[in-house]
Amino acid sequence: MKILALETSCDETAAAVVENGRRVMSNVIASQVAKHMVYGGVVPEIASRCHVEAVCEVTQEALKRAELTFSDLDALAVTYTPGLIGALLVGVNYAKGLSLSIGLPLIPVHHLRSHIAACYITHKNLEPPFLALVVSGGHSHIVGVDSYTDFKVLGRTRDDAAGEVMDKAARALGLPYPGGLNLDIQSKRGDAGAYSFPRPRVEDSELDFSFSGLKTFVVNLIHNASERGERIDTADLGASFINAVTDCLVENTFLAASLTGQKRIVLAGGVSANSVLRKKMQLRSEEMGYEIYMPELSLCGDNAAMVAAQAYYEFISGNVADLSLNASASMPIDKLN
Ligand code: KG4
Ligand code: ZN
Repeated sequence: MKILALETSCDETAAAVVENGRRVMSNVIASQVAKHMVYGGVVPEIASRCHVEAVCEVTQEALKRAELTFSDLDALAVTYTPGLIGALLVGVNYAKGLSLSIGLPLIPVHHLRSHIAACYITHKNLEPPFLALVVSGGHSHIVGVDSYTDFKVLGRTRDDAAGEVMDKAARALGLPYPGGLNLDIQSKRGDAGAYSFPRPRVEDSELDFSFSGLKTFVVNLIHNASERGERIDTADLGASFINAVTDCLVENTFLAASLTGQKRIVLAGGVSANSVLRKKMQLRSEEMGYEIYMPELSLCGDNAAMVAAQAYYEFISGNVADLSLNASASMPIDKLN
Protein backbone atom coordinates (compact mmCIF):
# COMPACT_ATOMS: atom_id res chain seq x y z
CA MET A 1 0.00 0.00 0.00
CA LYS A 2 1.54 3.29 -1.13
CA ILE A 3 0.65 6.39 0.87
CA LEU A 4 1.49 9.98 -0.05
CA ALA A 5 1.68 12.06 3.13
CA LEU A 6 1.88 15.79 3.80
CA GLU A 7 3.30 17.54 6.85
CA THR A 8 2.88 21.28 7.48
CA SER A 9 2.48 21.50 11.26
CA CYS A 10 5.33 23.94 11.90
CA ASP A 11 8.13 25.29 9.71
CA GLU A 12 8.83 22.45 7.26
CA THR A 13 6.69 21.81 4.20
CA ALA A 14 7.12 18.10 3.61
CA ALA A 15 5.73 15.36 1.37
CA ALA A 16 6.71 11.72 1.15
CA VAL A 17 5.64 8.40 -0.30
CA VAL A 18 6.04 5.32 1.90
CA GLU A 19 5.05 1.76 1.08
CA ASN A 20 3.41 -0.38 3.78
CA GLY A 21 4.49 1.98 6.53
CA ARG A 22 8.15 1.06 6.33
CA ARG A 23 9.70 1.51 2.87
CA VAL A 24 10.44 5.15 2.04
CA MET A 25 10.08 5.78 -1.70
CA SER A 26 10.62 9.53 -1.42
CA ASN A 27 10.95 12.07 1.38
CA VAL A 28 11.00 15.75 0.42
CA ILE A 29 11.39 18.61 2.89
CA ALA A 30 11.28 22.31 2.04
CA SER A 31 12.77 23.98 5.09
CA GLN A 32 11.79 27.51 6.09
CA VAL A 33 14.75 27.98 8.43
CA ALA A 34 16.26 30.82 6.39
CA LYS A 35 12.94 32.72 6.42
CA HIS A 36 12.53 32.56 10.21
CA MET A 37 16.20 33.01 11.12
CA VAL A 38 16.09 36.80 10.97
CA TYR A 39 13.34 36.78 13.63
CA GLY A 40 15.11 34.29 15.92
CA GLY A 41 12.17 31.84 15.90
CA VAL A 42 9.18 30.60 13.92
CA VAL A 43 6.73 33.34 12.89
CA PRO A 44 3.38 31.55 12.44
CA GLU A 45 2.03 33.86 9.70
CA ILE A 46 5.20 33.50 7.66
CA ALA A 47 5.14 29.73 8.15
CA SER A 48 1.59 29.52 6.77
CA ARG A 49 2.45 31.64 3.75
CA CYS A 50 5.57 29.59 3.00
CA HIS A 51 3.52 26.37 3.18
CA VAL A 52 1.03 27.78 0.65
CA GLU A 53 3.88 28.66 -1.68
CA ALA A 54 5.65 25.29 -1.37
CA VAL A 55 3.01 22.61 -0.91
CA CYS A 56 2.19 21.88 -4.58
CA GLU A 57 5.81 21.73 -5.67
CA VAL A 58 6.89 19.59 -2.72
CA THR A 59 4.05 17.14 -3.43
CA GLN A 60 4.99 16.90 -7.11
CA GLU A 61 8.62 16.41 -6.17
CA ALA A 62 7.73 13.55 -3.78
CA LEU A 63 5.86 11.78 -6.59
CA LYS A 64 8.66 12.42 -9.06
CA ARG A 65 11.38 11.07 -6.77
CA ALA A 66 9.27 7.98 -6.07
CA GLU A 67 8.76 7.61 -9.85
CA LEU A 68 5.00 7.49 -9.37
CA THR A 69 1.90 9.37 -10.46
CA PHE A 70 -1.25 10.01 -8.42
CA SER A 71 -2.85 6.93 -10.00
CA ASP A 72 -0.19 4.65 -8.44
CA LEU A 73 -1.16 5.72 -4.90
CA ASP A 74 -3.54 3.92 -2.55
CA ALA A 75 -4.20 6.69 -0.03
CA LEU A 76 -3.30 10.20 1.11
CA ALA A 77 -2.38 11.25 4.63
CA VAL A 78 -1.94 14.55 6.41
CA THR A 79 -0.89 15.87 9.81
CA TYR A 80 -4.01 17.53 11.22
CA THR A 81 -2.96 18.10 14.85
CA PRO A 82 -1.19 19.38 17.00
CA GLY A 83 0.74 22.35 15.64
CA LEU A 84 0.43 25.92 14.42
CA ILE A 85 -3.18 26.20 13.34
CA GLY A 86 -2.56 28.31 10.21
CA ALA A 87 0.25 26.01 9.12
CA LEU A 88 -1.80 22.84 9.71
CA LEU A 89 -4.74 24.29 7.77
CA VAL A 90 -2.64 24.60 4.62
CA GLY A 91 -1.77 20.89 4.63
CA VAL A 92 -5.25 19.75 5.64
CA ASN A 93 -7.04 21.80 3.00
CA TYR A 94 -4.61 20.85 0.27
CA ALA A 95 -4.91 17.16 1.20
CA LYS A 96 -8.72 17.37 1.24
CA GLY A 97 -8.67 18.95 -2.21
CA LEU A 98 -6.38 16.24 -3.53
CA SER A 99 -8.47 13.51 -1.94
CA LEU A 100 -11.62 14.89 -3.57
CA SER A 101 -10.07 15.37 -6.97
CA ILE A 102 -8.23 12.06 -7.29
CA GLY A 103 -10.69 9.98 -5.29
CA LEU A 104 -8.33 8.52 -2.69
CA PRO A 105 -9.04 7.98 1.01
CA LEU A 106 -7.57 10.59 3.36
CA ILE A 107 -5.92 9.47 6.59
CA PRO A 108 -5.64 12.01 9.43
CA VAL A 109 -2.43 11.70 11.44
CA HIS A 110 -1.52 13.00 14.90
CA HIS A 111 1.91 14.68 14.79
CA LEU A 112 3.32 13.00 17.92
CA ARG A 113 2.15 9.58 16.77
CA SER A 114 4.03 10.17 13.55
CA HIS A 115 7.22 11.11 15.41
CA ILE A 116 7.07 7.70 17.10
CA ALA A 117 6.43 6.06 13.73
CA ALA A 118 9.74 7.46 12.42
CA CYS A 119 11.28 4.58 14.37
CA TYR A 120 9.31 2.03 12.31
CA ILE A 121 11.21 3.26 9.26
CA THR A 122 14.64 3.13 10.89
CA HIS A 123 13.98 -0.15 12.74
CA LYS A 124 12.08 -2.45 10.41
CA ASN A 125 11.41 -5.04 13.11
CA LEU A 126 10.14 -2.65 15.77
CA GLU A 127 6.56 -3.34 16.85
CA PRO A 128 4.47 -2.20 19.81
CA PRO A 129 4.18 -2.57 22.75
CA PHE A 130 6.92 -0.25 23.95
CA LEU A 131 7.50 2.88 25.98
CA ALA A 132 8.20 6.13 24.10
CA LEU A 133 9.83 9.38 25.16
CA VAL A 134 8.51 11.95 22.69
CA VAL A 135 10.31 15.27 22.91
CA SER A 136 9.71 18.12 20.49
CA GLY A 137 9.40 21.90 20.45
CA GLY A 138 5.93 21.79 21.98
CA HIS A 139 5.71 18.47 23.82
CA SER A 140 7.58 16.28 26.29
CA HIS A 141 5.66 13.06 26.82
CA ILE A 142 6.32 9.62 28.18
CA VAL A 143 3.86 7.41 26.34
CA GLY A 144 2.91 3.78 26.67
CA VAL A 145 2.44 2.56 23.09
CA ASP A 146 0.21 -0.49 23.50
CA SER A 147 -0.44 -0.95 19.78
CA TYR A 148 0.15 1.10 16.64
CA THR A 149 -2.94 3.15 17.49
CA ASP A 150 -3.34 2.76 21.28
CA PHE A 151 -1.45 5.26 23.38
CA LYS A 152 -1.42 6.03 27.07
CA VAL A 153 0.25 9.20 28.37
CA LEU A 154 2.18 8.24 31.52
CA GLY A 155 4.06 11.49 32.04
CA ARG A 156 4.11 14.94 30.48
CA THR A 157 5.54 18.37 31.05
CA ARG A 158 3.53 20.57 33.37
CA ASP A 159 4.83 23.72 31.67
CA ASP A 160 7.49 24.16 28.96
CA ALA A 161 8.63 21.45 26.56
CA ALA A 162 12.24 20.26 26.48
CA GLY A 163 12.77 21.64 22.95
CA GLU A 164 11.29 24.97 23.95
CA VAL A 165 13.74 25.45 26.84
CA MET A 166 16.68 24.36 24.67
CA ASP A 167 15.62 27.05 22.18
CA LYS A 168 15.25 29.66 24.96
CA ALA A 169 18.68 28.88 26.42
CA ALA A 170 20.23 29.09 22.95
CA ARG A 171 18.58 32.43 22.33
CA ALA A 172 19.70 33.81 25.71
CA LEU A 173 23.24 32.77 24.79
CA GLY A 174 22.93 34.65 21.51
CA LEU A 175 22.96 31.54 19.32
CA PRO A 176 21.02 31.70 16.05
CA TYR A 177 17.79 29.87 15.26
CA PRO A 178 17.36 26.87 15.15
CA GLY A 179 18.43 27.12 18.78
CA GLY A 180 18.32 23.52 20.00
CA LEU A 181 20.54 22.27 17.21
CA ASN A 182 23.05 25.12 17.58
CA LEU A 183 23.15 24.68 21.36
CA ASP A 184 23.93 21.00 20.83
CA ILE A 185 26.73 21.80 18.37
CA GLN A 186 28.24 24.60 20.50
CA SER A 187 28.12 22.47 23.67
CA LYS A 188 30.05 19.51 22.28
CA ARG A 189 33.40 20.80 23.55
CA GLY A 190 31.93 22.14 26.82
CA ASP A 191 32.29 20.88 30.39
CA ALA A 192 28.89 19.56 31.54
CA GLY A 193 29.91 20.04 35.18
CA ALA A 194 31.02 23.66 34.84
CA TYR A 195 27.69 25.20 35.89
CA SER A 196 25.31 23.72 38.37
CA PHE A 197 21.62 23.45 37.45
CA PRO A 198 18.75 21.97 39.44
CA ARG A 199 16.96 18.76 38.35
CA PRO A 200 13.35 19.83 39.01
CA ARG A 201 10.87 17.15 40.01
CA VAL A 202 7.09 17.31 40.16
CA GLU A 203 6.05 16.49 43.73
CA ASP A 204 2.77 14.69 43.23
CA SER A 205 3.53 13.01 39.93
CA GLU A 206 6.91 11.37 39.57
CA LEU A 207 6.67 10.82 35.80
CA ASP A 208 5.80 14.42 34.91
CA PHE A 209 8.37 17.03 33.94
CA SER A 210 8.72 20.70 34.79
CA PHE A 211 11.22 22.70 32.75
CA SER A 212 10.06 26.30 33.30
CA GLY A 213 12.20 26.70 36.44
CA LEU A 214 15.28 25.54 34.54
CA LYS A 215 14.49 28.02 31.80
CA THR A 216 14.21 30.92 34.26
CA PHE A 217 17.38 29.74 36.00
CA VAL A 218 19.45 29.77 32.81
CA VAL A 219 18.05 33.09 31.57
CA ASN A 220 18.72 34.75 34.97
CA LEU A 221 22.19 33.27 35.16
CA ILE A 222 23.10 34.73 31.76
CA HIS A 223 21.44 38.07 32.55
CA ASN A 224 23.16 38.43 35.95
CA ALA A 225 26.55 37.53 34.52
CA SER A 226 26.15 40.16 31.83
CA GLU A 227 25.08 42.79 34.42
CA ARG A 228 28.23 42.05 36.41
CA GLY A 229 30.37 42.10 33.28
CA GLU A 230 31.30 38.43 33.76
CA ARG A 231 32.10 36.27 30.78
CA ILE A 232 29.90 33.25 30.13
CA ASP A 233 31.50 30.26 28.47
CA THR A 234 28.83 29.27 25.94
CA ALA A 235 30.11 25.73 25.49
CA ASP A 236 30.32 25.06 29.25
CA LEU A 237 26.97 26.63 30.02
CA GLY A 238 25.27 24.87 27.09
CA ALA A 239 26.77 21.52 28.06
CA SER A 240 25.72 21.95 31.71
CA PHE A 241 22.19 22.99 30.73
CA ILE A 242 21.75 20.12 28.27
CA ASN A 243 23.08 17.79 30.95
CA ALA A 244 20.36 18.93 33.37
CA VAL A 245 17.47 18.76 30.85
CA THR A 246 18.51 15.35 29.55
CA ASP A 247 19.00 14.00 33.09
CA CYS A 248 15.34 14.81 33.83
CA LEU A 249 14.19 13.19 30.56
CA VAL A 250 16.24 10.03 31.07
CA GLU A 251 15.44 9.59 34.77
CA ASN A 252 11.67 9.78 34.30
CA THR A 253 11.71 7.54 31.24
CA PHE A 254 13.58 4.78 33.02
CA LEU A 255 11.43 5.21 36.10
CA ALA A 256 8.39 4.72 33.85
CA ALA A 257 10.05 1.64 32.40
CA SER A 258 10.60 0.12 35.81
CA LEU A 259 7.09 0.99 36.98
CA THR A 260 5.46 -0.54 33.90
CA GLY A 261 7.92 -3.40 33.39
CA GLN A 262 8.41 -2.28 29.77
CA LYS A 263 11.95 -3.01 28.57
CA ARG A 264 11.66 -1.75 25.03
CA ILE A 265 12.16 2.01 24.73
CA VAL A 266 11.70 4.41 21.83
CA LEU A 267 13.07 7.95 21.63
CA ALA A 268 11.31 10.32 19.21
CA GLY A 269 10.63 13.97 18.28
CA GLY A 270 12.91 16.81 17.22
CA VAL A 271 14.92 16.72 20.47
CA SER A 272 15.76 13.05 19.82
CA ALA A 273 18.47 14.48 17.53
CA ASN A 274 20.30 15.78 20.60
CA SER A 275 23.65 14.03 20.84
CA VAL A 276 23.75 13.94 24.65
CA LEU A 277 20.23 12.58 24.97
CA ARG A 278 20.94 9.86 22.42
CA LYS A 279 24.12 8.85 24.24
CA LYS A 280 22.48 8.79 27.68
CA MET A 281 19.47 6.81 26.47
CA GLN A 282 21.78 4.33 24.77
CA LEU A 283 24.07 3.92 27.78
CA ARG A 284 21.28 3.59 30.34
CA SER A 285 19.49 1.04 28.17
CA GLU A 286 22.66 -1.01 27.87
CA GLU A 287 23.17 -0.84 31.65
CA MET A 288 19.60 -1.99 32.27
CA GLY A 289 19.62 -4.62 29.52
CA TYR A 290 16.76 -2.82 27.71
CA GLU A 291 16.24 -2.40 23.97
CA ILE A 292 16.51 1.19 22.72
CA TYR A 293 15.24 2.51 19.38
CA MET A 294 15.82 5.98 17.95
CA PRO A 295 15.10 7.42 14.51
CA GLU A 296 18.07 8.04 12.21
CA LEU A 297 19.02 11.73 12.41
CA SER A 298 17.30 12.62 9.14
CA LEU A 299 13.95 11.42 10.55
CA CYS A 300 14.15 13.09 14.01
CA GLY A 301 12.80 16.47 12.90
CA ASP A 302 9.52 17.09 11.14
CA ASN A 303 9.14 15.12 7.90
CA ALA A 304 6.35 13.47 5.96
CA ALA A 305 7.81 9.95 5.76
CA MET A 306 6.95 9.45 9.43
CA VAL A 307 3.41 10.69 8.72
CA ALA A 308 2.98 8.13 5.94
CA ALA A 309 4.39 5.43 8.24
CA GLN A 310 1.85 6.12 10.99
CA ALA A 311 -0.91 6.61 8.40
CA TYR A 312 -0.50 3.01 7.23
CA TYR A 313 -1.35 1.71 10.70
CA GLU A 314 -4.14 4.28 11.21
CA PHE A 315 -5.68 3.09 7.93
CA ILE A 316 -5.51 -0.56 9.00
CA SER A 317 -7.31 0.33 12.22
CA GLY A 318 -10.05 2.10 10.22
CA ASN A 319 -9.08 5.72 10.81
CA VAL A 320 -10.09 7.49 7.60
CA ALA A 321 -11.33 11.09 7.40
CA ASP A 322 -14.10 12.60 5.35
CA LEU A 323 -14.13 16.11 3.96
CA SER A 324 -15.27 17.52 7.29
CA LEU A 325 -11.74 16.96 8.64
CA ASN A 326 -10.45 20.09 10.33
CA ALA A 327 -7.07 21.05 11.70
CA SER A 328 -6.66 21.42 15.44
CA ALA A 329 -3.89 23.26 17.32
CA SER A 330 -3.93 20.72 20.13
CA MET A 331 -5.19 17.19 20.68
CA PRO A 332 -4.06 14.53 23.16
CA ILE A 333 -2.12 11.68 21.56
CA ASP A 334 -4.39 9.12 23.19
CA LYS A 335 -7.65 10.48 21.74
CA LEU A 336 -8.88 10.11 18.18
CA ASN A 337 -10.31 13.10 16.27
O1 KG4 B 1 9.68 17.76 16.34
P1 KG4 B 1 10.29 19.06 15.98
O2 KG4 B 1 11.19 19.12 14.78
O3 KG4 B 1 9.18 20.14 15.78
C1 KG4 B 1 8.06 20.15 16.64
O4 KG4 B 1 7.19 19.28 16.47
O5 KG4 B 1 8.11 20.97 17.59
O6 KG4 B 1 11.08 19.56 17.26
C2 KG4 B 1 11.69 20.81 17.25
C3 KG4 B 1 12.48 20.97 18.52
C4 KG4 B 1 13.01 22.39 18.65
O7 KG4 B 1 12.72 22.88 19.92
C5 KG4 B 1 14.48 22.20 18.43
O8 KG4 B 1 15.27 23.12 19.12
C6 KG4 B 1 14.71 20.81 18.97
O9 KG4 B 1 13.59 20.08 18.52
N1 KG4 B 1 15.96 20.22 18.47
C7 KG4 B 1 17.00 19.95 19.26
C8 KG4 B 1 18.01 19.42 18.43
N2 KG4 B 1 17.54 19.40 17.15
C9 KG4 B 1 16.28 19.90 17.21
N3 KG4 B 1 17.15 20.10 20.58
C10 KG4 B 1 18.32 19.71 21.10
N4 KG4 B 1 19.35 19.22 20.37
C11 KG4 B 1 19.23 19.03 19.04
N5 KG4 B 1 20.24 18.53 18.33
ZN1 ZN C 1 7.58 17.64 15.42
